[in-house]
Amino acid sequence: MQTIRGTKDILPKEIQAWQDLYFKALELFTLYNYYEIKTPIIEQTEVFLRSVGNETDIISKEMYRFKDQGQRDICLRPEGTACIARAIASNKLYTIEKIQKLWYLGPMFRYERPQNGRQRQFHQLGLECIGSDTPIADIEVINIAHNLLQRLEVEDYHLQINSLGNEEERHTYRIAFTDFLKKYEKDLDDDSKKRLPTNPLRILDSKNNKTQEIIQKAPCISKYLTASSQRHFDTVKEYLTLLQIPYKINTKLVRGLDYYNHTAFEIISNKSNNQNTLCGGGRYNRLIKQFGGPDMPGVGWAIGVERLLMLKRPTQEKNSEKFRFEIITENSEGQKKSCHLMQILTENSIPFNLNLNNQRLTKQIKKAVKNKSIGCIIIGDNEVQESTITIKWLTQNYQETIPYQSIIPYLKNKIKTLEKFAIYTKIA
Ligand code: HAM
Repeated sequence: MQTIRGTKDILPKEIQAWQDLYFKALELFTLYNYYEIKTPIIEQTEVFLRSVGNETDIISKEMYRFKDQGQRDICLRPEGTACIARAIASNKLYTIEKIQKLWYLGPMFRYERPQNGRQRQFHQLGLECIGSDTPIADIEVINIAHNLLQRLEVEDYHLQINSLGNEEERHTYRIAFTDFLKKYEKDLDDDSKKRLPTNPLRILDSKNNKTQEIIQKAPCISKYLTASSQRHFDTVKEYLTLLQIPYKINTKLVRGLDYYNHTAFEIISNKSNNQNTLCGGGRYNRLIKQFGGPDMPGVGWAIGVERLLMLKRPTQEKNSEKFRFEIITENSEGQKKSCHLMQILTENSIPFNLNLNNQRLTKQIKKAVKNKSIGCIIIGDNEVQESTITIKWLTQNYQETIPYQSIIPYLKNKIKTLEKFAIYTKIA
């Protein structure tokens, strides 16, 4: 049996990159006083209908939606922001702290056509700053995304930004844009024709050449911004320049979720043409209120982890695991004794691998060499009879038999010397 289409196993050899990303993110976000949050993978479908918007592809085409045994309308979350907004409102987090700085990493689900960089189960690393409407909050989150990509040595990407204005401004623009497109309706591609009455702004995203040609002449959202929205956008741009974060203004950037207003942005890789949006985000000022919370404006982003890891330089294999012993036993009496041995090694934080192959001692030693163990801790029949234990040092090719009860002080002493001379390095 294979994994479900559009989903992948993340195998042990790939995990180091994931762990590395997690710890680098944790370190950076902690510097900025952001706290990790985990919300359930399943939510009431209403959470997303209310926020992401009925007419978006995410809701209308891509939801993993079902009725549970209690006939509740449930779905696998397609994104994290609505979940965070729901969590802030339902846990009344605002009563503890008026500004919530949160981040998350977890699986999201969208029934899309799978291809390289696009999966049905994918992971997002997301960050949300909720409770402030000042442009400096927009800047803080963009700056963190930029810093993270720098720390992860992701190269060759660029930031695109736009302002979507507030709801009234966008509404006026939507009318003007729809009126304009109606004149060219018959020349639009089929998808855009369908979107015209329901979600016309998404037509700006169309990949169809003819539609794009028409859009070039269409009115631009920037003309519909009021002075205060324009000021917000200008400040964001000014601070980006101050921080030396290069950006391009893309007046067609509208994003695929309905909750955005004012700043919208994407970080795009220059390395590939397909699925090259690494990070998407923006400001959402109504979301928390929509979930019954107070008026708390928010801004944030999410990075697609699979896309990010495809672009990131491969991590060097870490030498964090300096050494490991192989416990080797001969018969059941030896195995019985290994139960106690495992306990005392654990209590003293000495790493080991218990050989489970039930083979002859020589074969187990060969396996230890293959496993790159630093040494074998052997409990053979002789050792059981004489209450001793043998340690065979594989890097130095000698062995010692000592009283069983001396094993911990013996190992600790040896490890100290090995560390001092840094000769714990794994054998070739
Ligand atoms: P989004 O643009 O839908 O935004 O997704 C963010 C990122 O998730 C994308 O840029 C992409 O890297 C990744 N992504 C999306 N769909 C897939 C997929 N099918 N396979 C692989 N990667 C994918 C949001 O989800 C918003 N919640 C972001 C946000 C946070 N806005 C404010 N705060």
